[in-house]
Amino acid sequence: MSETNVSFDFDQVIDRTKSNSAKWDKKVLEKRFGDPDLLPFWVADMDFKAPEPIIEKLVQTAEYGIYGYSILPPSFFESVLSWFKRRYEWDIDEKWLSQTPGVIPALDVAVNAFCNSGDKVIVQNPVYYPFYRVIENNGCRILLNPLKLSNNHYTMDFEDLEKKVKDPRAKMIILCNPHNPIGRVWTEEELKQLGEICIQNKILVVSDDVHCDLILPGYKYTNFAILNDEFTQNSVICTSTSKTFNLAGLKISNIVIINQKLRQTFKNTQANFGVGGPNLFAVAAMETAYSHQTCENWLDALLEYLKGNLNFLRNYIKEKIPKIKLIEPEGTYLVWLDCRELKLEPNELEKFMREDAKLALDEGYIFGQGGEGFERINIACPRSILKLALNNITTAIRKM
Ligand SMILES: Cc1ncc(COP(=O)(O)O)c(C=O)c1O
Repeated sequence: MSETNVSFDFDQVIDRTKSNSAKWDKKVLEKRFGDPDLLPFWVADMDFKAPEPIIEKLVQTAEYGIYGYSILPPSFFESVLSWFKRRYEWDIDEKWLSQTPGVIPALDVAVNAFCNSGDKVIVQNPVYYPFYRVIENNGCRILLNPLKLSNNHYTMDFEDLEKKVKDPRAKMIILCNPHNPIGRVWTEEELKQLGEICIQNKILVVSDDVHCDLILPGYKYTNFAILNDEFTQNSVICTSTSKTFNLAGLKISNIVIINQKLRQTFKNTQANFGVGGPNLFAVAAMETAYSHQTCENWLDALLEYLKGNLNFLRNYIKEKIPKIKLIEPEGTYLVWLDCRELKLEPNELEKFMREDAKLALDEGYIFGQGGEGFERINIACPRSILKLALNNITTAIRKM
């Protein structure tokens, strides 16, 4: 049993190298980073087993042996609705929900559904890089509303946003709440300001809230859709169990669209994409995740463990690698490290992390303008593994 948690063992090191893990597979590491033996901290999933009730439910589902087409039973909806009510006081009507195989597929459907070719979609860079691909794949253009960084803290640039929304081709903003990679959990005030600007300028708000359950102690997630009636009617909220309970490989998310017209357009487009019909295992896992008390307890323990990892990381770099600055995350298990004091060009920093520190990280520059000189590290791993990564960086810096 873990030293740091009496009930759930997040310290257990599990070999993922032979499990077809996108993060750990040696062939993938070789192809993407040129070295199969790097220690991986890039893909945003966790090196922890999912809560036991989910594993048991999946085993039970597998043992039944018939894997025909699945429905979404009433108990599935009850669990989803109860989760959002319990955790966020959000009363969802089951008819507002659409299921997609993931949040990224949902963003694809949304851009396709609500924008025409040549329209512009606003993103707040640096940001989760698939957003750029989703926009361009649908024949749309990216409109940047860069985040401002001051005293190691990011904020939205509303002055710039006011200008960007005036672009006649601007139609949508893809919000990231909490924001990957910089870890902000947007406050009610920030979301209200953003929402007002969008209402006044007829910009649809599509909010990627995939990390919304991963809020570090001391911070609070605010749901954009419930801030006022106008926002309710002008938003698409993307949620999932994939990050929360480490179920990303099961492929299911719930997209909440309250505005009936928008919802119908989304559903029609999704049908045209041919992406429909839930996955039997994903449905079983999501229902269990949202309804089983042990899963909720597991999540609370996970957040404590992540806080411990963050404290460890903060203390470590302060003491041993002071040239690297931590951008304090408020949510997610992704940490944005400011490495600019190392005075390396982005390609040199990348080479340094791969060849000298032997780590597979997501380079800051792939998150777009403003990401250069930063690294994103995933701390959802046993503390001993995180320590290895930091030791590698320390040794490599000493040799620099
Ligand atoms: C902000 C954000 N959105 C979406 C995703 C991917 O979601 P999905 O696997 O549901 O498509 C990730 C995964 O890292 C993410 O960080």
